[in-house]
Amino acid sequence: MKVIVASDHAGFRLKERIKQYLKRKKIDTIDLGTNSLDSVDYPDYAIKVAEKVAADKNLRGILVCGTGTGMTIAANKVKGIRAVAAYDAYSAKMSRIDNDANVLGLRGRFFPFNRVKKIIRVWLDTPFSGKDRHKKRIEKIADYESRG
Ligand code: RB5
Repeated sequence: MKVIVASDHAGFRLKERIKQYLKRKKIDTIDLGTNSLDSVDYPDYAIKVAEKVAADKNLRGILVCGTGTGMTIAANKVKGIRAVAAYDAYSAKMSRIDNDANVLGLRGRFFPFNRVKKIIRVWLDTPFSGKDRHKKRIEKIADYESRG
């Protein structure tokens, strides 16, 4: 599994720390920017990452903005993306078990790095349960998307 990361200016510092953390964990990372604290628009980065993740089952996305919400909202507009904004390890874990989330949105501002590490660890390590009832629910989302 490879992880694509991106952020806006508000998430830039955290994205850089996340890259170092993933490197230490020997997880391959692709960085799609941004590369500075200059103001940019989070949808440009969210959609770039989401399109890549939607096209390749071996990819997961991690997106960081000030709150984690803008990135997640934008990523979820891309067909095939199930993005979660997670602020605790339980939500991150359940987003994998029940929802097979393929993009993780994180909050870059006022959020302790220890919690970020825990969220990422559990989110990357937890598999989708594959249970029929959860598959059925995910298929309902996919059906709705394909009607659009
Ligand atoms: C940028 O100021 C901020 O709005 C953005 O990083 C994010 O929090 C949006 O959801």
